[in-house]
Amino acid sequence: MPRTIIEPFRIKSIEPIRWTTRLQREKLLRAAHYNLFLLPADDVLIDLLTDSGTGAMSTHQWAAIMEGDESYAGSKSFERFRVSAQDIFGYRHVIPTHQGRAAERILFSVTCKKGDVVPNNTHFDTTRANVEFVGAEAVDLVIAEGRDPRTNHPFKGNMDVRALEELIGRVGRDHVPLVMLTVTNNSGGGQPVSMENIRHVSAVCRKHKVPLYFDACRFAENSYFIKVREKSYESKTPKQIAQEMFSYGDGCTMSAKKDGMANIGGFLCTNDDLLAQQEKDLLILTEGYPTYGGLAGRDLEAIAVGLQEALEEDYLQYRIASTAYLGNHIAEHGVPIVQPPGGHAIYLDARAFLPHIPAEQFPAVALATELYLEGGIRSVEIGRLMFGASAKMDLVRLAIPRRVYTQSHIDYVVEIILEVWKKRDAIRGLQITYEAPFLRHFTAKLEPVSERN
Ligand code: F0G
Repeated sequence: MPRTIIEPFRIKSIEPIRWTTRLQREKLLRAAHYNLFLLPADDVLIDLLTDSGTGAMSTHQWAAIMEGDESYAGSKSFERFRVSAQDIFGYRHVIPTHQGRAAERILFSVTCKKGDVVPNNTHFDTTRANVEFVGAEAVDLVIAEGRDPRTNHPFKGNMDVRALEELIGRVGRDHVPLVMLTVTNNSGGGQPVSMENIRHVSAVCRKHKVPLYFDACRFAENSYFIKVREKSYESKTPKQIAQEMFSYGDGCTMSAKKDGMANIGGFLCTNDDLLAQQEKDLLILTEGYPTYGGLAGRDLEAIAVGLQEALEEDYLQYRIASTAYLGNHIAEHGVPIVQPPGGHAIYLDARAFLPHIPAEQFPAVALATELYLEGGIRSVEIGRLMFGASAKMDLVRLAIPRRVYTQSHIDYVVEIILEVWKKRDAIRGLQITYEAPFLRHFTAKLEPVSERN
């Protein structure tokens, strides 16, 4: 196998990106109050804010879009979407939603009540918020290795099975309406869950008659990690692995904006007929009729094709190799990252990168803004600004949109990070000048610490 990573596609349509000068970026950053969410996207050269809804669609997806059937009820596009999803996920009911969090809201609204507990390896923030919104408690039970950025473990997204048993024993089976596994574990660094762990979690769930659900956003990447890291799966296709994985559960929530390769969309699956009826009733109230769920027929077409493309081995091999290339090249020069590189993103450990900046001065925001100043790269802080004083880590996530950037873009990102690494001692902390009462990271305004002091 040649060592050079190449994109397993050719480019048919291009979208220009725009250079800015450092002076312009300094002005733009001041105008955005040092919050990268407040920057116009046009002033960003490489946008690694998220891998959600930012992917490039294939010629097959665009062709399918032309076939979109926009009938209100019973459209052909829904049928194609359902068949494609069932082929992979295998669940009896597939309920489309406008994106992942809508599926979460519906699932937790019909299954959870005040006083319930929902275990997950690690809840993504919208998942946690939707659990808490219905009065239930969201508990993260990832293995100890998954909480330490430096330990190297092939499946850092695994759930601590003993802790799960202990929790169910303590609160009682009647207070655990479902168990969730997030594949891959986004909040924990894009780390995969092994098939062995899925089987163990499933066995515990079956023993206690608690349904197991997957937060399946990045199921294809998780399947590929199983293929290359878990014994006895190397000769299976990613699709066979995904099918086996989902066979151990009772349903899932899905954001098609990730491994659905679409720009919008999601769905909710279940094997439970009664639950499906309740979910569809709620869907009609807020999302739409069950054969479109807030999406256009053309969106359903894009997802039907995208789900299958996400499982193509050439694509997955390139995607995981390209993300690892970014992580390994900066780590080789001493840049502290969450190890090992994840599927969809690389996470810089800002506390280790900038030890001279105290956590109260938002080291990960300081690092993210510096990457923008140095090279026009947009990333996202996951730390003190997002979670407040309870944040255990200050990370900068560089999320890679699917099929969008080439290897030379990745080389450029490596170069800029190494440049910032050289200058790290001169980077200053930040302080807040405005914050909203909740979800402050989206709108907060900041300034460099020494401008006032
Ligand atoms: N679950 C996980 C693991 C996610 O990463 C996301 C979204 C969701 C659920 C919600 O899906 O956005 O379609 O409503 N993650 C994006 C991100 C926003 O940037 O990581 P959604």
